[in-house]
Amino acid sequence: MSLNKIESRLRDHLLELHSNGTLKGAEHIVTGIEPAREGYGPRYRLEGMGSRLFLRMNSNGYLGMAFHRQVIEAESRAAAQYGCGPGAVRFISGTYQPHVELEKKLAKFHGRETGMIFSSAYATVTGVLPQFISRETLVISDALNHNCIINAILLAQPAEKAVYAHLSTDELKNLLKGNSGNYKRVVVVTDGVFSMRGDHAPLKQISALCSRYEDGYEEGIITMVDDSHGVGTLGETGGGTEEYTQARADIYIATLGKALGVNGGYVVSSKKVIDYLRETSPFYIYSNPVTPAEAAAAITALEILKSSAGKMLLATMRGRSAQLRQGLQNLGMETIQGDHPIVPVLIRDTQQTAELVRHLFENNVLATGLNYPVVPKGEEEIRLQVSAHHTEKDIDYLLDVLAGFS
Ligand SMILES: Cc1ncc(COP(=O)(O)O)c(C=O)c1O
Repeated sequence: MSLNKIESRLRDHLLELHSNGTLKGAEHIVTGIEPAREGYGPRYRLEGMGSRLFLRMNSNGYLGMAFHRQVIEAESRAAAQYGCGPGAVRFISGTYQPHVELEKKLAKFHGRETGMIFSSAYATVTGVLPQFISRETLVISDALNHNCIINAILLAQPAEKAVYAHLSTDELKNLLKGNSGNYKRVVVVTDGVFSMRGDHAPLKQISALCSRYEDGYEEGIITMVDDSHGVGTLGETGGGTEEYTQARADIYIATLGKALGVNGGYVVSSKKVIDYLRETSPFYIYSNPVTPAEAAAAITALEILKSSAGKMLLATMRGRSAQLRQGLQNLGMETIQGDHPIVPVLIRDTQQTAELVRHLFENNVLATGLNYPVVPKGEEEIRLQVSAHHTEKDIDYLLDVLAGFS
């Protein structure tokens, strides 16, 4: 018994990633966070970087909820009351009052009968999607869907998987029309907001097409949306892609770990759907939930989002995102227009992307370069993510650094 033979294979694989320029490499280790001052937002200390302070442009914490005093206090109080971990999966003895309250509040926020939480959005998608896919199901998926959807489909082994070009409702229409009668059931699955681009699924058109072609399938067409980047960013109240497009999915999934600032994932839908999932979804039945303290923190984050303070956070985040998009346009840099705080800078070259990430880092800005296979070839980019904690001076500083790149 030895790892010698397999380790040489693993090393070859890592070397290949390195030579393709797609190795992620060593992770930066955050050792401290300096509070906002002198008109600038919080700054990050990193291990091995001495006294340097970094502006973080690669966090999903769009509203800064992770640092909100009330959210932190709610988490601390619940940890003192219930302990740090749940100690069991939900159906054994791991269901605590904050879990149940959070599920009710999430369902209400999204206008659904009920909801159910998981340890992450990744676990939610892989725990929910396969439960609706049989060997007689056609799954139809957007070409740029997140890795969790791709793996959930692999796990589910449907009769067929069809992929439509990113956002192409024409291709979706042809698939729904052309396969009529060939499968018992269809599941159409899409990200709400696409994490590499900040654009969103045309939910209204997708729903209309599904209603139009539903009669062609004995068990109908189900729509499922993973709106992990949509909640707390899009829509007047931060209700996500559904609120923004004024349309609905049959099964709606999102994360607690991005704009809501905590950790975990959830699904909201009809009572029958959730009753079925609680009894059948392995990622729920056999895996611990988020801690009671995380659930309590998420309840508070949701309450803040719905309050006037939440409206102000949304407005600040949107103002900064618009400032960055305008600034990039002034610099002649290519981006994708929209209202989302994910603001990509399209570089379209792996080497140049790496050089720009390096330039930003040298100037104390943390940003992430996305290369193939995370994004399609030719769409290599730097993904900048704006939060309500960024100030106008932060964005001006970032734009100055970008202007200095040649
Ligand atoms: C679209 C999408 N779904 C799911 C996830 C995973 O979220 P979580 O960290 O809650 O598992 C991500 C995270 O990057 C995402 O972008």
